[in-house]
Amino acid sequence: MTGKDAEKTAAPFIRPDASLDELREAAGHCTGCDLYKNATQTVFGEGPDDAPVMLVGEQPGDAEDRAGQPFVGPAGRLLDKALAEAGIDRSRVYVTNAVKHFKWSVVRGHKRLHQTPKIIEVRACAPWLRAEIERVRPRVVILLGATAAKSVLGPGFRVTLHRGEPVRSDLAERVVATVHPSSLLRMPDPDARARAFDEFVDDLRKAAGESPPPARGPA
Ligand code: URA
Ligand code: SF4
Repeated sequence: MTGKDAEKTAAPFIRPDASLDELREAAGHCTGCDLYKNATQTVFGEGPDDAPVMLVGEQPGDAEDRAGQPFVGPAGRLLDKALAEAGIDRSRVYVTNAVKHFKWSVVRGHKRLHQTPKIIEVRACAPWLRAEIERVRPRVVILLGATAAKSVLGPGFRVTLHRGEPVRSDLAERVVATVHPSSLLRMPDPDARARAFDEFVDDLRKAAGESPPPARGPA
């Protein structure tokens, strides 16, 4: 690691007393690492500021970079389907990413190919995610895939070994890592993909926990 890399961080852009909306505004101007240079715009988290569940992905993809919103492309559609199946109300979920700018390598067809962010970039961007968690204070944080898990739980965390297991953390009552929906989209075998989807839904359902019984009206 060079000295220059070690300094990369979003921290100077984050005012400690900023509201969630002010953070979103400020993130639009972040130059905390080099990823802003090749991306269209910052893609900040979205959802209610009192959401009980927060989902954390890796970074915006091609579609998200254009739209300026997280999880609106193919992975987002699969995520929506999984949330519906798990009985989790999408409108009560705050959705964000470990890294707020789209990192890509080459253009193939009319799409730019996603590139996994480096740990230095994940670390640089982590103050935004921490600030979002501190403002929203979700009861449950669900980490989708290795990048989100490493951002929140440290570079040594292995989703393959600990998926679905609640992890002790000061960030929320329950922090759980599972696979990323994009990993399902990449599975060529339809049966394997269907099984993996069911396991993903199961992880989401367990992580979000039992919802309280619906309130009864007056008898
Ligand atoms: N993949 C992610 O991790 N996040 C998005 O917002 C879209 C795809
Ligand atoms: Fe800032 Fe994160 Fe974008 Fe890097 S990826 S410029 S740290 S918002």
